Amino acid sequence: MDLKEIRDIIQNNRQRYLNELMELLKIPSVSADSQYKDHVFKAAKYVKQKLDEAGIDESEIHTTKGFPIVYGEKIINKSWPTVLVYGHYDVQPADPLDLWDSPPFEPVIKDDRIYARGACDDKGQFYIHIKAFEILNKINNVPCNVKFMIEGEEEVGSDNLEEFVKSHREKLAADVVLISDTSMISLEHPSITTGLRGLSYLQVEVTGPKRDLHSGTYGGTVANPVNVLCKMIASLKDENNHITIPGFYDKVIDLTQDERAAIARAPYDENEFKNGLDVAELEGEKGYTTLERVGIRPTLDVNGIWGGYIGEGAKTVLPSKAFAKISMRLVPNQSSDEITKLFTDHFKRIAPKSVRVKVTPFHGGEPAVTSTQSKPYKAAEKAFETCWGKTAIPTRDGGSIPIVALFERELGVDSVLMGFGLDSDAIHSPNESFGIPNFLKGIETVVFFHHFLRSNSR
Ligand code: BES
Ligand code: MN
Ligand code: MN
Repeated sequence: MDLKEIRDIIQNNRQRYLNELMELLKIPSVSADSQYKDHVFKAAKYVKQKLDEAGIDESEIHTTKGFPIVYGEKIINKSWPTVLVYGHYDVQPADPLDLWDSPPFEPVIKDDRIYARGACDDKGQFYIHIKAFEILNKINNVPCNVKFMIEGEEEVGSDNLEEFVKSHREKLAADVVLISDTSMISLEHPSITTGLRGLSYLQVEVTGPKRDLHSGTYGGTVANPVNVLCKMIASLKDENNHITIPGFYDKVIDLTQDERAAIARAPYDENEFKNGLDVAELEGEKGYTTLERVGIRPTLDVNGIWGGYIGEGAKTVLPSKAFAKISMRLVPNQSSDEITKLFTDHFKRIAPKSVRVKVTPFHGGEPAVTSTQSKPYKAAEKAFETCWGKTAIPTRDGGSIPIVALFERELGVDSVLMGFGLDSDAIHSPNESFGIPNFLKGIETVVFFHHFLRSNSR
């Protein structure tokens, strides 16, 4: 395969690729908000159509109890390696809308970046794979069997994917799951993600008096659920930012000195990191570096907290209820269900008698670590060497893609996490964007991944 030939094809088709991606980005496929339901279905249709146009042999929109899974395949030779591409066409809600510089579903290109909700997470990233496949097909040189599985519920916990995977083991059989839904260090330092954290996400509700009370008539006599909730949450970490839930760390695997040294070799500039976020100081678990805190250590965060009066001006009220949404990011060997249970038991135990506590678990997911010794990983390394002229650095990311552990468990297939986003792309935030160089170089790299996976296996 000739790098110059591939680069020329990409350059000559650049505008069309971008236009197609922008059409996809115009569809507000927000899975979390039922108001956008029809648009999520519309995005699934668009993805199927683009797979068909790229030259996939068989494709279908598999309906589920929730949003559909778009599946497509081109099986050329059973003795060749098979790549299963996974991605998601659903996106996070766009709010707060007033913080966007341009409307989230009216993509614009500015300074060589596309701005839109989903530009990086994950529409721009999985579209890389459809265009890479289109190129391979056009030059009559698809080197591997290719399967696509693009779902529409990733951002809400992939509830119906497990069932689909379990009932289609044969259809989904593959040598590798290839995913672009993570970030790389920078355009100068390409990297391959080799670990993702797991997740326990839950909501807590603290109830005090049976109704809202006048904060003067009753203040100082009855427990205020908002005050109580704040105290309870504050107690979940000690002065070293160690989580205080008994048993929380019991199963956490400590890394060896070698593994920690490998993490420390990745380029990282603390000042750049701080300045990029406008914070004067970083904070995290004592005894670990920032890269360790995000990659190999579990954590607990409040994602939202509310209760009482939050409207304009002042209202004197002692609220009846207080709520918080809490996430815990997990690392190997923690289990989402076990951690949810430990949290729930602990949270109920520490509640004062003056309140009642309800804990509602939401979605979860298991952590995952992928091999750096497998043939697919080696193929990814070679693809980066060819297209970027650099060796990709293995990194552990802090985010979660629960299906990675699921594929490993249910299909026995390891993933290669070939992400092309940057942390500064602001996924899940206002003004999400994706660099056009990342998009185009991603296409090139994926083309060569297929090439090397096949030639390595001969
Ligand atoms: N693509 C992200 C996960 C991600 C982002 C991994 C950056 C590594 C680096 C994915 O779409 C996502 O947002 N996952 C959720 C979990 C899911 C169960 C809602 C997350 O990590 O919060
Ligand atoms: Mn994603
Ligand atoms: Mn996401």
